[in-house]
Amino acid sequence: MSRVQQVTVLGATGSIGLSTLDVIARHPERYQAFALSGFTRLVELQALCVKHRPRYAVVADAAAGEALQAALQQVGLPTRVLVGEGGLCEVAAHPEVDAVMAAIVGAAGLKPTLAAVEAGKKVLLANKEALVMSGDLFIQAVRRSGAVLLPIDSEHNAIFQCLPGDYARGLGAVGVRRILLTASGGPFRETPLAELEQVSPEQACAHPNWSMGRKISVDSASMMNKGLELIEACWLFDARPSQVEVVIHPQSVIHSLVDYVDGSVLAQLGNPDMRTPIAHALAWPQRIDSGVAPLDLFAVARLDFQRPDEQRFPCLRLARQAAEAGGSAPALLNAANEVAVAAFLERRIRFPEIARIIDEVLNLAPVAAVENLDAVLVADARARVLAGEWLSRHGL
Ligand SMILES: NC(=O)c1ccc[n+]([C@@H]2O[C@H](COP(=O)([O-])OP(=O)(O)OC[C@H]3O[C@@H](n4cnc5c(N)ncnc54)[C@H](OP(=O)(O)O)[C@@H]3O)[C@@H](O)[C@H]2O)c1
Repeated sequence: MSRVQQVTVLGATGSIGLSTLDVIARHPERYQAFALSGFTRLVELQALCVKHRPRYAVVADAAAGEALQAALQQVGLPTRVLVGEGGLCEVAAHPEVDAVMAAIVGAAGLKPTLAAVEAGKKVLLANKEALVMSGDLFIQAVRRSGAVLLPIDSEHNAIFQCLPGDYARGLGAVGVRRILLTASGGPFRETPLAELEQVSPEQACAHPNWSMGRKISVDSASMMNKGLELIEACWLFDARPSQVEVVIHPQSVIHSLVDYVDGSVLAQLGNPDMRTPIAHALAWPQRIDSGVAPLDLFAVARLDFQRPDEQRFPCLRLARQAAEAGGSAPALLNAANEVAVAAFLERRIRFPEIARIIDEVLNLAPVAAVENLDAVLVADARARVLAGEWLSRHGL
């Protein structure tokens, strides 16, 4: 590789953003942070700018932008501060950018991620919600622009690594029978069902194997994360929902598997550390050091597997339903989930009510065809209104 690759990190202050910057800093001869974005953690963003010296930083609004610009000028940094969704889209699509890490959480990441796709960038996709919401529109934009889409979710990155290079010909054409999507089962895999009514946000965020942001941690506890990943897998690998089977694997060492028609099952293994899929996607098709310790199979000793229990994890059933319904159903599911998870994190609802809210939204909102981005945004807004009505009806 001759030239240093310019990388925009959307969501730099988050868990994936920090892991990305850790990998970038290990390879200064290959990568340079071009732009970093933050939202609420502005002190952290300032420190990241001092360390990585990006050309641009992006924050939510003008007041935050002025404060950060002044602070950076004071320490002699030439970093230019941009604001809002426009700023995010600008650094995602900037002509000098080679790769974009899409690691903003939730629907807020949709437009900047699409901007990177439409500009034909190498897009490292952590923001699964963007693909879940916009599905076919997203994939069509990738095809049109020639963007290179590389999955960062450890499961999809594993599947990508286990598939042959020409999998875009179709799973059937390359001899794939099924995709086996592994799930840890989260912190409540064995909690008595009656106790789930009382669990706290802290318990939900205490994931046994992974250290992640709060929203995805709650999604992992409810297994909505796996549901979103099921939908994501269908779009990334052109699979039908029935071709994706979820397998609980509590050790999180096998990150997913591909089952071929000849009986071969290929798996990708590694320590549960997101720097592995990040390094894989950054360097693809080459390999670079990620800083992750080698896997010690003797310490792992055993690998267990269980079938998921949909009574315990109704969100998984709801996500499969939305995947099968298609159209705007995944966008409705995602938005209802975002509202419900935020309410749970604010201690306004109990954990099992997350699934109840989503269920009600999916029952009330009609599923429509999604022909353009406006249709996605209409579905997203409708689901947020309906979820809000559930909260108001319950005095919340
Ligand atoms: N963490 C993991 O191991 C993991 C694994 C696979 C996939 N993912 C996916 O990666 C994405 C990020 O996850 P994470 O765990 O890194 O989350 P996180 O730690 O909560 O970080 C989220 C990032 O998004 C920014 N952000 C939040 N709301 C925003 C808004 N409205 N507008 C602009 N920026 C906003 C945050 O800024 P501030 O922090 O400054 O507020 C932060 O930089 C999610 O889609 C998640 O599903 C994560």
